[in-house]
Amino acid sequence: MFVIVARSEQEMAERAADLVEAEMQRHVSPVLGLATGSTPIPLYEELIRRHREQGLDFSTCITFNLDEYVGSAPDHAESYRRFMNEQLFDHININPKNSHVPDGTIADLEAIERFCEEYEKRIADIGGIDLQVLGIGANGHIGFNEPGSSLGSLTRIKTLTAKTREDNARFFSSLDEVPRYAITMGIGTILNARKVVLLATGKGKCAAVAAALEGPVSSACPASALQLHRYATFVLDEDAASQLTLEGYHRT
Ligand code: PGA
Repeated sequence: MFVIVARSEQEMAERAADLVEAEMQRHVSPVLGLATGSTPIPLYEELIRRHREQGLDFSTCITFNLDEYVGSAPDHAESYRRFMNEQLFDHININPKNSHVPDGTIADLEAIERFCEEYEKRIADIGGIDLQVLGIGANGHIGFNEPGSSLGSLTRIKTLTAKTREDNARFFSSLDEVPRYAITMGIGTILNARKVVLLATGKGKCAAVAAALEGPVSSACPASALQLHRYATFVLDEDAASQLTLEGYHRT
């Protein structure tokens, strides 16, 4: 595990963008796994800046997003497709056909299951994800893999916990409007990515970060599965790192 404790939001964004850019330069058609949420926004802003000012080229880049709410049309204010368009895709030269976000419009359960299998197949057919960007929930979730998720799981439909729905209610006009289900890559899908970069900021994440990095590998903290990954980097701010007992070691 690699741990970077950054001194500012800007430093976090730059360190994470360096990892993404390095991966983009390593492959003719880099395959990026992307995340939504508040935490990666500064990273996306930095990538947009590098595209505009330094010509960082996304024209051959292929992306797969982690998750999407079930019941959310692409133009819905809170859909993750819309989030990604607004926060990143509309501002870089990615071919829209190359950006994949799970389809939140499918209502029928069997059709959702078929879609999830197809999503996994598309990732596999393209040769797998080179680098997966992740946030982490206060309960240790990655994607919408809530505590208790199988560590070998693949893309599937999951029920959101009450805590996650409460955490995400800030984006909706009321808690009642927060969807109850999501399509999410599984923990196994995430572990299959060749590299992983997990971003976390704030005191609200420090317990989850400590459990992920220093606790036992357990589905009680889905992010702890990253201890099994060969190339996982945590990029943290001081607050998110504040419960790490090995924090001094990680800094060296
Ligand atoms: P956040 O969400 O970046 O909005 O805190 C992270 C997550 O729930 O994975």
